[in-house]
Amino acid sequence: MLSRKNLEILVAAQKRLYCTFPELPSFEQRWDFETDGVIQALLTRLGDNDPYFHPRYAGHMSGYVCDVAVMSYFLAMQFNPNNHSYDGGRATTKMEVECLDSMARMLDWNHYQGHLTSGGTIGNLEALWIHREMGANTVICSKGAHFTHKRAANILDLKYLEVDVTKDGSLCSIALSGLLAALEATDVPVVVCTLGTTLNGAIDPLDEIFSLKAEHDFKVHVDAAYGGYFYLIRARLAGRNRKAFDFLPAADSIVIDPHKHGLQGFGCGALLLRGVSESTSQAIYTHDSPYTYFDRRGISIGEKTLECSRPGAAAAALWATMQCLPLEEEGEFSRVLLSCHTAAVKMSELLFAVDDVRLIVREPALDIVVFYIECADISAATRQLYEQLKASGFYVAMADCDISSETGVFREVSCIRLTLMKKEHLAMVDELADQIIRLSKCIADEYRSQYQAL
Ligand SMILES: Cc1ncc(COP(=O)(O)O)c(C=O)c1O
Repeated sequence: MLSRKNLEILVAAQKRLYCTFPELPSFEQRWDFETDGVIQALLTRLGDNDPYFHPRYAGHMSGYVCDVAVMSYFLAMQFNPNNHSYDGGRATTKMEVECLDSMARMLDWNHYQGHLTSGGTIGNLEALWIHREMGANTVICSKGAHFTHKRAANILDLKYLEVDVTKDGSLCSIALSGLLAALEATDVPVVVCTLGTTLNGAIDPLDEIFSLKAEHDFKVHVDAAYGGYFYLIRARLAGRNRKAFDFLPAADSIVIDPHKHGLQGFGCGALLLRGVSESTSQAIYTHDSPYTYFDRRGISIGEKTLECSRPGAAAAALWATMQCLPLEEEGEFSRVLLSCHTAAVKMSELLFAVDDVRLIVREPALDIVVFYIECADISAATRQLYEQLKASGFYVAMADCDISSETGVFREVSCIRLTLMKKEHLAMVDELADQIIRLSKCIADEYRSQYQAL
């Protein structure tokens, strides 16, 4: 929620906004309806949400939008700039370019093409489209990849192949090697690697995947929609994950979503492409639009994007955020990521020590922790814990996972999924863990006594 101090700054900024274009007759919208009533109704309706913005919310990948992004979006939206064309959003086009330049600098990319997208789905679709236009006809993903890739392959009429995952949910490079060796001669593959899977933030072994290039020819697209920013703190991650992140700059295309870990509101993703020449991208994106691009003094990003109209306000919000929290390895933004990771490691340690609780993965790669209560009906126990946590003011999510029993048979059960993506989560890990442990014990005891009564 916007702090009171920032609300005052926003009100002052709005007053200044009224004074832009002093050469024009003053203008404020006038309508016959009153807004007060409907705004009150809206606030009531908004109450019918979980408190995604609050540190007590640790469920889905829903962080809060940082104040400066809220303020900037609010102010920029009133201009309603469209970053499709330079003349539709001159100032915010420049901001978008600066944001993408910073992201490319983070990756040490000197030459790149890139732009903001409405999110990970479109960014990944666009990446696969570009790969297809450059000759790929087969998409290879791990079973832990986001479902959007299968859908994109279907839309793009590309062959879709899946590779098994290892115990921690990351792509199995041995299985990938076997699959690459078994491809048909006509298959031209693009391997999709995920840095930060949606289920548990698993990191595909990019280093091992790149080593397969010695024997096989393939392009690499990295879906770092969730985990991309963690590149900044790769040195603080577990060794194998650091190694994977070290290879991120070697990817042909990368998706990173500012609306996940970049403190932006939904509707802000980013796609970065490397090794796509000006002329190739010109050929892929070329379209006739005689009514759009008049101002040739700056670039019209929309000439080379899959989406046409895109909110300049999203670029303004991201730009302002990155002014306050630049992408620096030792900066405040990195410290936020580190506290999220530390929170998850701490939470895992606390839960690992409890008899009735089982972690899906012992050590979280990033900041997601998935676990269940060992009992006769795991899925029902998960639902109970979810509800009881909610009743006590802690909001978590659920996810279906394959777990193996002692006999080695896999079965799917519902688990609790915690996404600890707010910097404040570190300070409340103990409190949340205490609550989880206390309730889990009660639930497990209940199942034990039911079992004994039989
Ligand atoms: C790894 C990954 N890729 C892609 C997506 C899809 O992104 P979006 O929901 O922004 O379209 C998600 C969403 O959670 C994700 O976690």
